[in-house]
Amino acid sequence: MGKKVLAIYYTQSGQMGDIIDSFTTPIGLAGAEVEKVVVKPATDYPFPWTGTSFFSVMPDSVLGVPQLLQPYTLKQQHYDLVIMAWQPWFLSPSIPSNSIMHDASFRSVIKGTPVITISAARNMWLSAYERVHKTLQDAGAKHVGNVALIDRHPNFVSFVTIFYWMLTGKKERYLNVFPKPGVDEKDITSTDVYGAIVARHLQDGSWGSLQDDLLAENAVTINYPLMVIESKAKIIFAVWAKIIAKRKNKTRWLVVFKYYLFAALFLGAPLLLTLDALFVRPFTGKRIKQKKQNYLLLK
Ligand SMILES: Cc1cc2nc3c(=O)[nH]c(=O)nc-3n(C[C@H](O)[C@H](O)[C@H](O)COP(=O)(O)O)c2cc1C
Repeated sequence: MGKKVLAIYYTQSGQMGDIIDSFTTPIGLAGAEVEKVVVKPATDYPFPWTGTSFFSVMPDSVLGVPQLLQPYTLKQQHYDLVIMAWQPWFLSPSIPSNSIMHDASFRSVIKGTPVITISAARNMWLSAYERVHKTLQDAGAKHVGNVALIDRHPNFVSFVTIFYWMLTGKKERYLNVFPKPGVDEKDITSTDVYGAIVARHLQDGSWGSLQDDLLAENAVTINYPLMVIESKAKIIFAVWAKIIAKRKNKTRWLVVFKYYLFAALFLGAPLLLTLDALFVRPFTGKRIKQKKQNYLLLK
């Protein structure tokens, strides 16, 4: 095929590396030259996290403050396709992903180039995705496809298991009772289905119908209750981030934010969803459908 493809990403646990490996296998088998580049911040974030370090990245994640990256080299100055894999942190692009998107050599390589995004989140990726989409477009990229992988377990369950994973580094069943955290192994290996679709479109450069073909294989699904929670939470997170960023003693404020987050999830979210089911959802069907379509179709 002779096409050149760049797959660029950051990962802490290695989950994203497994996803990129599955996703790009059919693209490589179709004859494209796939260059995989893992980018790290100059000062990397700890993994496993401590409770304090985990919450300490909230303000910069939400406010979109990029960090310096470790130097990395790209073999080409131009690629036929760039695959950017990313993960959300606090409903925002993770600081390393955001830093990649603001990095001069990445921006020069994506200018005028088809870009496909893949995210691997717990389950709340929509507002971060809006920012990723906008940042790529502002850099002049052609955003031609998106795949959104999530942990499919119920919100409360994955909330518990992600903390176990992030604070121990073990992608294992907590107490042997909870399911494994993160994106399911089967979902990771079956991203090769999306890769095969991409390989076909790469061959003939027909990017216009790529997202429809990816959606036909459920590359993106939108969960309405999570969409409602996120749309409110992102506004509240932005307020918290601005307040905390200005404080001298951030640690104390981040502890308050942590307790707020637990209360919001276990008390606020059920209340919000009840009110939404009674007073909003029955009257805004068209608007909801439009919003979902925007997330599905790269708008
Ligand atoms: C600091 C932090 C905040 C996170 N916030 C979110 C979030 O808002 N929404 C979400 O779905 N997942 C969230 N996650 C999970 C990540 O998106 C991701 O799935 C996980 O960290 C594994 O990524 P890795 O490839 O870097 O190991 C968060 C993870 C971290 C470390």
